Amino acid sequence: MPLPKAELHLHIEGTLEPGQAFELAARNGVDLPYADAEELRRAYRFEDLQSFLDLYYALMTVLRTERDFADLADAYLARAATQGVRHAEIFFDPQAHTRRGVELGTVVEGLWRALERSEAEHGVSTRLIMCFLRDEPAESALATLEAAGPHLDRITAVGLDSAEVGHPPVKFRAVYEAAAALGLRRVAHAGEEGPPAYITEALDVLGVERIDHGLRSLEDPALVRRLVRERIPLTLCPLSNVRLRTVESLAAHPLPAMLDAGLLCTVNSDDPAYFGGYAGDNFDAVRETLGLGEDRLRELARNSFLAAFLDDDEERRARYLAEVEAYTFS
Ligand code: HPA
Ligand code: ZN
Repeated sequence: MPLPKAELHLHIEGTLEPGQAFELAARNGVDLPYADAEELRRAYRFEDLQSFLDLYYALMTVLRTERDFADLADAYLARAATQGVRHAEIFFDPQAHTRRGVELGTVVEGLWRALERSEAEHGVSTRLIMCFLRDEPAESALATLEAAGPHLDRITAVGLDSAEVGHPPVKFRAVYEAAAALGLRRVAHAGEEGPPAYITEALDVLGVERIDHGLRSLEDPALVRRLVRERIPLTLCPLSNVRLRTVESLAAHPLPAMLDAGLLCTVNSDDPAYFGGYAGDNFDAVRETLGLGEDRLRELARNSFLAAFLDDDEERRARYLAEVEAYTFS
């Protein structure tokens, strides 16, 4: 039995496996510029974040109907459950769909179909986080938040993703203020490829409660002291960092040093279909390559539930935390 954990950094569009991409392409009459799933999988080699994003957005053309989004989320949840995921907070990128003519309602209600059955079918509780694309204009993010109005009962938080460098958090001040006024929780990608200053800015200007990645935190000792003092969770994604070359190798990943510094780290998969593994695979990789012991692994699992948006269901959080403490490693 795998260690129970929450997944807090997962882009649902990044769970599109090559085989499923071909199935959906056939169902929707979309031509993919690859002979088959094997050839597509061989294209999953990246130089940096942008080279990944180019393929990630291109492949989304196969996602068109509510059923497609429901099938995508259902496949992820089934797979996550086998890796010990008990709770998943799932990102989606509405603008990546609305800009190619798929309505926001199709995306949210399709995902919701899978999410509302997830607990009964997979034993995984869920939350939905709507991300804004930071390389699109701030006005587009505001329009997206407005369009989400009828679906806000499905959405727990807003996030910020896509190309980071050159798109500092401050660009999204107004939309984050509007989201907070609507009662939405706030997270943002920061310090993945971008500088530690973007992490500070996301906290100060956007009022985020968690930092997605935060990989470059250690470059700024004052920031580290603050993140430790304020118990700001970081949602790290080790296999993603290796595939996007934000770290030289998994062995060189700063996770052990970050834990030693007292940071509230969690381990997540980001875009598992593209980066070689789901949440449990990321845990296995850091255990094997970084030599994390049982105490550290249990701490990572505990942190994932402490950092989860479960404030409306503290009983559930306590139950999950008890599962972590009761777990025996094999
Ligand atoms: N970084 C930024 N944006 C993203 C990512 C990522 O790893 N995955 C999907 N959108
Ligand atoms: Zn991400």
